[in-house]
Amino acid sequence: MSVVRRFATIPGPRPLPLLGNSWRFAIGQKPWQTRSLDVTLWNLRALAGAGGAAKVAKLFGHPDLVFPFCAEETAKVYRREDSMPHRAVAPCLKHYKQELRKDFFGDEPGLIGVHGMPWSKFRSKVSKALVAPEAAKAAVPSLDDVAVDFLDRMEKIMDHNREMPKDFLTELYKWALESVGAWALGTRLGCLSEKDNDAKEIIKNIHGFFHSVPELELSAPLWRIYSTKAYKTYVDALDSFRNLCLKRLTDKGVCAKIAKSSGEKVATILALDLLLVGVDTTAAAAASTMYLLAKNSRAQCRLQAELDNSLPVGRLLNSQDLERLPYLRACIKEALRMKPVILGNGRCLQSDAIISGYEVPKGSHIVFPHYIMSNEERYFPNPHDYTPERWLRDTERTDDHVSSKSCYIENESNDKICEHAKAALIAKRQREVGIHPFASLPFGFGRRMCIGKRFAEVELQLMLAKIFHKYNVSWRYGELTYSVTPTYVPNEPLQFTLDNRKKGK
Ligand code: HEM
Repeated sequence: MSVVRRFATIPGPRPLPLLGNSWRFAIGQKPWQTRSLDVTLWNLRALAGAGGAAKVAKLFGHPDLVFPFCAEETAKVYRREDSMPHRAVAPCLKHYKQELRKDFFGDEPGLIGVHGMPWSKFRSKVSKALVAPEAAKAAVPSLDDVAVDFLDRMEKIMDHNREMPKDFLTELYKWALESVGAWALGTRLGCLSEKDNDAKEIIKNIHGFFHSVPELELSAPLWRIYSTKAYKTYVDALDSFRNLCLKRLTDKGVCAKIAKSSGEKVATILALDLLLVGVDTTAAAAASTMYLLAKNSRAQCRLQAELDNSLPVGRLLNSQDLERLPYLRACIKEALRMKPVILGNGRCLQSDAIISGYEVPKGSHIVFPHYIMSNEERYFPNPHDYTPERWLRDTERTDDHVSSKSCYIENESNDKICEHAKAALIAKRQREVGIHPFASLPFGFGRRMCIGKRFAEVELQLMLAKIFHKYNVSWRYGELTYSVTPTYVPNEPLQFTLDNRKKGK
């Protein structure tokens, strides 16, 4: 019979008397930097040892954090979750909604930064309209429109070497913002056009918002003492988004449905939450997928072969067309496995539990570090190889060599043959170990999982399908490094090169 170990024995950095462990992040020496939480997590993984857990205890104003580095333990905790999962995040947003602008939000605080009954009531009002597969399918025409405009914009902003500008990540924010606007508000915000003044204002605010979030949510909360510059920028941006949602809510879009069933105020608050979390997330996912494909010509060729075979000619894309693109879906899943947008999901324990053989008291904050698990050999053989094939189901797996034929003939190099053989081998090894359903959870799990998952998937599929159908995307620079901002985004400029494909080869 296994012995249950005491909470105090969970390995982790030793807290100092009075200062706890907060001083580590205040000093900010590696591996304790909020912008490098990926490094912090690998360090905790090493401390945890085989199959175990680690903890970071005694952080000011924060419950103790426990990190179970095990997919089975993750499954156990998620499955015992009650009907109102508690995810402790976004103190500054909570302050904005529940203190600063309490007059507006009142007892309808939305989904983000909210827990318990208020969250549960709000989620049940909006869930059906957002998560139903039909909601994402219905969005295809308007998202396709946005993707077409984004490709036009890419042509305009590329330099004479066909390279994207240094601030291409901001361009991806604009695409994501325009897409959420089209889906949620049923309107085009104009973020992909140079002329629209309203759009300029929105872009200025989105810039301000995403630059202030890391300081407010990840560093010492000085904003609680006085109105820091980042705090003012953040509040201005939120006020302006709130006004935007009030002003631009139309009778189309998914929020219009909510307005009919639950009133305009609920619809506006929902639209605001969707704007706040639906922009940097999809932009980061698009950036990482483009980067990993740009660096892997084998996978890019195979994707292009699928697109050439399955995309319709001479008519708009529809949701059935997207269903015929399993390799594209696998490319996105593989990118989110290697570079998840959110490194770990969190839950606050609502009752005592035993996790990885340790007693863990109620109130502890469990962080499921799926970034680590999805990059570990035991769950994903050759974890550092971008191999979308590992995600293909038996029915989706065509003969690797046949489907990558165009790539093979074009290159005629032994290296390429080796790459195909290597990918086939990794996919085979992955089939042997299987994919643990809790080892890669980029959208979270359970009642509180990402409400925009289906929408994000469709949005990404449409835009990436168009890009890789039209262009060969290449990367001429060194390895990208990433930071947590709090989404996991590349640090360096995303200067992809986009060459028109010569079709019919
Ligand atoms: C690739 C893109 C995205 C990723 C990786 C992502 C990931 C996540 C994750 C990990 C969570 C927390 C889930 C949990 O606690 O179990 C979440 C929550 C959420 N996401 Fe996403 N997300 C993405 C895109 C979007 C988009 C486009 C929208 C809306 C337009 C959206 C709206 C939300 C909302 C409203 C929540 C809070 C749900 C709640 O607490 O009830 N997300 N997302």
